[in-house]
Amino acid sequence: MITIIGAGKVGSAAAFDILRYKISDVVLIDLNENQAKGEALDMMQAAPAIEFDGNIRGTSDFKEMRGSELVIIIAGLGRRPDMTRIDLMNTNAQIVKSVVKEVVKYAPDCKLMMVTNPVDIMTYIAFKESGFPRSRLFGMGNILDTMRFRTYIANELNVSREDTRALVIGEHGDSMVPLVEYASVSGIPITNLLTKEQIEKIVCLTVTSGSDVIQLKGSTVYAPAVVIAITADAILTGRNRVMSVSTCLDGEYGFSNVSIGVPVVLGKYGVEKIIELELSDQTRERFGKSVAIIKEAIAALKS
Ligand code: LAC
Repeated sequence: MITIIGAGKVGSAAAFDILRYKISDVVLIDLNENQAKGEALDMMQAAPAIEFDGNIRGTSDFKEMRGSELVIIIAGLGRRPDMTRIDLMNTNAQIVKSVVKEVVKYAPDCKLMMVTNPVDIMTYIAFKESGFPRSRLFGMGNILDTMRFRTYIANELNVSREDTRALVIGEHGDSMVPLVEYASVSGIPITNLLTKEQIEKIVCLTVTSGSDVIQLKGSTVYAPAVVIAITADAILTGRNRVMSVSTCLDGEYGFSNVSIGVPVVLGKYGVEKIIELELSDQTRERFGKSVAIIKEAIAALKS
């Protein structure tokens, strides 16, 4: 069973994608009980069409998360067009702390996925607040950035998106680091297929992609929702997928006391392994800057 806390647009869309892919039963929790119940009822009525025989329940009662294998925290304010993810930090930190307390109380053995932004900072707060081992707690951010990177590579080359492979590491935010040196199309490095200018354009589009949607329609929904579903699938089915998630570093990549996106093996037990990549000097420097930005924000939080 999966619990999603936060029945707003992304939480509800993610719940529906989880049902549509038949990954798991879902409990949808929101302080606005009618919203949670209404979303669940609406989804239940779609269940025959998507041939889903499981259960979807909406509630405002945190106790209902008992027995969840995975809890996903999406609760919090969304980013407005005039805000950076860091602007959201202080308000959402309070919300996340109080929700994490409930998770520790009712689902102490779950894997915990953070989605609330700024996600790297919220993941770090959840780690400190929960006392969970870092393997059982991670943030969803760079997987979404990676999907966007893949989309723009495919668009530029007019090839199938399925054949693109890529990785983005670092902050889920303006300082993210799309790894050009590890991006390929069916194993062919993109540097063999695209000019430097084309690659620069794709990298810029990847970095601004979330904001580009927010400028147009106020929030991102479908992309984060489906990425939450595939990430949940990696945990529930124990597929050991290799994905970038925000994880608390303890010496890896030369950093500690920070949660930031790096590639990991994601399976039944959560973050089963952190993969340490060789990075070029330039990429290492960009990653270091991204770490510094998150650490500064964490320091500002404490005061
Ligand atoms: C995005 C928001 C959810 O990147 O951070 O879509």
